[in-house]
Amino acid sequence: MNQRLTSNKNSYDVELLLAKDHIYSQGKILSSMNTEADPLALQVFQQNVQRNLGDPALFPGTVLIERDCINFVGKLFSLPESGIGVILSGGSEANITALWAIRNKIKSERKTTNFQILAPESVHVSVDKAADLLNIDLVKIPVTDKYQINLKILQDSITDNTVAVVGVAGTTSLGTIDPLKELNDICLTHNLLLHIDAAFGGFVIPFLTDSDNYSLSFTLPALSSMTVDLHKMGRIPINGGVLLWRDRSYPDAIKFVLPYLAGKPEQYTMSGTRSGAAAIAFSVLWNKYGYSWFKENALQCVENTKFLAQELKERGFFIPIKPVINILGVIPPASSLTTEELHASLWEKNWTTSIVNGFLRLVIMPSTTKNHLKSFLKVIDTLV
Ligand SMILES: Cc1ncc(COP(=O)(O)O)c(C=O)c1O
Repeated sequence: MNQRLTSNKNSYDVELLLAKDHIYSQGKILSSMNTEADPLALQVFQQNVQRNLGDPALFPGTVLIERDCINFVGKLFSLPESGIGVILSGGSEANITALWAIRNKIKSERKTTNFQILAPESVHVSVDKAADLLNIDLVKIPVTDKYQINLKILQDSITDNTVAVVGVAGTTSLGTIDPLKELNDICLTHNLLLHIDAAFGGFVIPFLTDSDNYSLSFTLPALSSMTVDLHKMGRIPINGGVLLWRDRSYPDAIKFVLPYLAGKPEQYTMSGTRSGAAAIAFSVLWNKYGYSWFKENALQCVENTKFLAQELKERGFFIPIKPVINILGVIPPASSLTTEELHASLWEKNWTTSIVNGFLRLVIMPSTTKNHLKSFLKVIDTLV
């Protein structure tokens, strides 16, 4: 236990305030896509918080480690030799940066200033932020009853101004995966670029036994860029994510030079100063454990999610969509509490859930074990 900070009129008790926070290691956080970091990653992260990827002349070693991380993540998705990537603050920054690059590249190649992008209604709010910031016309395409982008409506929505499509591999609300192969084919037919947001699914989908069915890979020729977070299923501390690009032409479209730094480095991210700790923590993790460790992590979470789905089904819960990855949406039995009431009662007992599209949303991260879920089910039995 740390020593308490002394209080005086001009300060407040930090420890008292932090005691209000929820803690991943208790296994009761079912509302977040972040998780308890791996202990080794946490230690390495803490030791390297001062390294700055935004200043390559001062931190050339960290820059090489970043490149290594990009190679490792890139291999998971068959990133071609021409591929390139950056580590940035997370999924939101990666999606905004990807759309920034697409917009600028198209602007210079096609001499157009009208940019329309199509994305499923299920897309993460960072894509709305990107559209707002970049003055892009974002058209939301309804989803099917499987909670995937509706391909027919997508095709009917393409106009002369459409430049790109966003697909989601692991939606924030239910973890569903858009039909990526079909999105690729539509993009090729209409000369559109494809960005895939795999912020959450990137470290789960490649490890599923039927992963080939989802085509989450740069073998899709229309795919220009992909978002993959490290601080979600990549098990590093907050914050760090990866943006992969098919080739240099995308980052080159958003290149800025920093004239005041030694070596006048080029930057391809929104942030100037960029934490190197994420890259270092992640590289230590995969150097020590390799792909198989990430696979075990992911498959355990998926198995736990399926266990929970089955148990809740046996208790009369409605499961509108069979979980594909480690996110589950449920509706309590009609004769019991409403979704909102159950959600509120669970929070009172420190089990954190969220409500999305009328479902009680449960995210089963590595910090929540099967034993935690058994305790959760006991609580459910007292409430429902
Ligand atoms: C699919 C998806 N994309 C992007 C993000 C944004 O990631 P971050 O919170 O790291 O900015 C999230 C966050 O939940 C997400 O689920």
